[in-house]
Amino acid sequence: MAALTTARILVASNRGPVSFSSAPDGTLTLRRGGGGLVSGLSAIDDPNAVWVCAALGEADRAAAGRSPHGRLDRGGFDVGGQAVRMLDIDPEVFDQAYNGVANSTLWFLHHMLYNTPAAPAFDAEAAEQWRAFEAYNTAFAEALAAEAAEGAAVLVQDYHLTLVPALLRELRPDLRIGYFLHTPWAPADYFRLLPDPLATAVLTGVLGADRAGFHTRRWALAFADCCEAVLGAAVDRADLSVSYRGRTTRLGVHGLGADGEFLRERAHRADVDQRLAALRETVGDRRTIVRVDRTELSKNIVRGLLAYRHLLRSRPEWRERVVHIAFAYPSRQDLAEYRDYTAAVRRISEEIDAEFATDSWQPLILQVEDDFARSLAAYRLADVALVNPIRDGMNLVAKEIPVVSEAGCALVLSREAGAWAELAEDAIGINPYDVVGTADALHRALSLPAAERTERTKRLAAAATALSPQQWFLDQLAALNP
Ligand code: F6P
Repeated sequence: MAALTTARILVASNRGPVSFSSAPDGTLTLRRGGGGLVSGLSAIDDPNAVWVCAALGEADRAAAGRSPHGRLDRGGFDVGGQAVRMLDIDPEVFDQAYNGVANSTLWFLHHMLYNTPAAPAFDAEAAEQWRAFEAYNTAFAEALAAEAAEGAAVLVQDYHLTLVPALLRELRPDLRIGYFLHTPWAPADYFRLLPDPLATAVLTGVLGADRAGFHTRRWALAFADCCEAVLGAAVDRADLSVSYRGRTTRLGVHGLGADGEFLRERAHRADVDQRLAALRETVGDRRTIVRVDRTELSKNIVRGLLAYRHLLRSRPEWRERVVHIAFAYPSRQDLAEYRDYTAAVRRISEEIDAEFATDSWQPLILQVEDDFARSLAAYRLADVALVNPIRDGMNLVAKEIPVVSEAGCALVLSREAGAWAELAEDAIGINPYDVVGTADALHRALSLPAAERTERTKRLAAAATALSPQQWFLDQLAALNP
């Protein structure tokens, strides 16, 4: 691999800022994605910045294959921001690393999703998946090492790339390495479900960074606890740092906020107005409870629906007077657990409809096709926002709805979401496992006096936008300065 070694700022994440689709004649079409990291990176205007990501499908692979060193800009693609280097990792290795380890092991671990009598079972297949995970992380470390200029800053993102900081330090000790985890971190007792060598590799992988960032202090401390319990590392909880084998890794807390400016503008474009009109037609002058999620196990959609059903059963005064708008977009359908979960969401929705719908009232609008404009339309219409994850690194929906809702919304929020750390005061808190408690919270939220709701929403929106994605990114970069 030829060394390019010109980049001063590098970002690495599994999913990059662009993706491709291909037409039957082989024409490739590029699409630029959204999300906090894409917005965050727009804060830097550096021609020598590079974003390293994985090719996620065949069209991505074709684009990477046509570009020298996988650098899409050099392959003639207009990536619309920083240069992008897309890694064409062997599809089987990628599948084992992404589906087998990142999404079925590390994601389950940090979100505490295992049904422990049955899983996890670290057998020969799991060992093979782990080797693929090492190879996939090594490919990232090598690409970063090849692109980075002397002393460059590298910001490694998320659980997929948990081994990269240590691998990269080995290759390029001159670099300043930051790591950021977008998920929660598991408590030490739960983390120890991992076999010892894997637990050690994950922790020492992250400790390869100069600085490891988390959305909340709670997740940073959980990481420190694991370093102490598994590695015997020295932890300074007041200063937030972990020392192990002669090196100290500082921990940082950066609670990513919603991009208020972007959301307010985007939510008032014609496509959103159109969808809002269609939703209004169905809802009429009834109250709305809105949720928007990927159909993700940790988002707890099923218990949310059970809570709505309990509300309608236990408080019949809400029948005909409320509509639950639930957008649950497809996610990780390569995994059987996710396909089963999606089926459960549909089944319970049908049951609610069968039990309560009347000729003049549709109690639930469930949509499973991803449509960002329609999500924003639902945000505008929200009287109540339901965000009830089992566990979540941050949860940006909890921050976005108060910013966009027109009449002000009451936020029913899980205490296990990272966003709780910043929004607790003006949200209505729930234990995400407590279906009856969640139904009660929905009733409280629906009954909140208008003036109180408006005041709470103002404060929620201010807290939600306190740290813009741009500032979030710049803060991490500045914290890496020597
Ligand atoms: O929550 C962390 C996160 O990286 C999100 O940013 C993202 O939505 C998800 O996990 C990863 O999803 P996917 O597997 O679709 O890339």
